[in-house]
Amino acid sequence: MTVGAVLYSQLFVTPKYPTASFKDQTIIVTGSNVGLGFEAARHFVRLYAEKVILAVRNIAAGEKAKQSIEESTGRSNVCEVWELDLSSYASVKAFAERAYKLDRIDVLLENAGINSTDFSLAEGHERTITVNVISTFLLGLLLLPKLRATKNQGFNAWPHWSIVTSEVHAFTNLPEWKCPSTFEALSDEKQANMRARYVTSKLLEILVVREIAPKLAQSGVILNMLNPGFCQSQLIRDERRDWWLVRFLMLVLARTVEVGARTLVAAAAAGHESYGAYMTDGKVNNGALSPFVTSPEGKKAQEKVWSELKEILVNIDPEIAKQL
Ligand SMILES: NC(=O)c1ccc[n+]([C@@H]2O[C@H](COP(=O)([O-])OP(=O)(O)OC[C@H]3O[C@@H](n4cnc5c(N)ncnc54)[C@H](OP(=O)(O)O)[C@@H]3O)[C@@H](O)[C@H]2O)c1
Repeated sequence: MTVGAVLYSQLFVTPKYPTASFKDQTIIVTGSNVGLGFEAARHFVRLYAEKVILAVRNIAAGEKAKQSIEESTGRSNVCEVWELDLSSYASVKAFAERAYKLDRIDVLLENAGINSTDFSLAEGHERTITVNVISTFLLGLLLLPKLRATKNQGFNAWPHWSIVTSEVHAFTNLPEWKCPSTFEALSDEKQANMRARYVTSKLLEILVVREIAPKLAQSGVILNMLNPGFCQSQLIRDERRDWWLVRFLMLVLARTVEVGARTLVAAAAAGHESYGAYMTDGKVNNGALSPFVTSPEGKKAQEKVWSELKEILVNIDPEIAKQL
């Protein structure tokens, strides 16, 4: 997306208020105690979902979110608060194991993410990469057979695996992709460019979706990714640089989280045209991807990062190999 297109979208486009029904559906939203995930969960409950799982790392915050959703929608016993900490593979696996016991999973909306300029490690990788990238795909691939099985139960709607990415993926061309090991380079404090870390994680998500989508095309699950636009969430809580500038831009440009969350709901309801695609303003628009992503170099980068990530994931759980 060009700067002009971003400004136009922020100032003049309001994603459509969601009206599609999620009746009978079981929906998982990661990172749904605050921000976009919270407002998306509220939409799903309002839109008649049978069960909405608030997958959160802080149970008390999740319970507070559940109470707010129940009060505002007038629907009780729909939300369940489940623990999920994406900085721990054991937590991701435990969550997936628990989710297997559900009757069905119609939507896995992977929204949780962090934006930090401080370097720290989680599970041997830089934390942003662990949370936003490795654990995000670990959870998705662990739950893919369950999503598939939901389709095979003959329900009308196609199950969705939707990942919240961002237009800021265009702020980097991932110089680390040329390193012998991209993931090792990203986890090396001496080389790490933490100013670009969040945008790097969002680009990695997009590259990986583009690489795995053709491999999973027969899975019976709609895998898509979306950009919610710039929204007034708590995402910049750990942001130290240019704080006043980001705050100012947020004031004049950002969408409310309710409006941004409409794009998450749109992805969860999107049709086959969204398969493997990038959605922005609630619509499929691969033209909004950065020139790097769609370039021959971007294609090589996506193959490389996926081959590395696949190895990491299979080491965490050998079952993952069966999905690909
Ligand atoms: N806001 C924007 O302008 C914007 C634009 C483009 C894309 N996005 C994307 O939108 C998604 C949601 O972000 P947001 O803007 O709503 O930010 P947010 O208000 O900071 O919400 C992030 C959510 O992720 C959760 N989370 C963080 N680390 C986690 C972990 N280790 N395990 C499980 N959950 C974790 C947070 O839980 P805690 O409350 O416990 O920290 C919170 O619920 C992110 O993927 C972000 O990249 C946001």
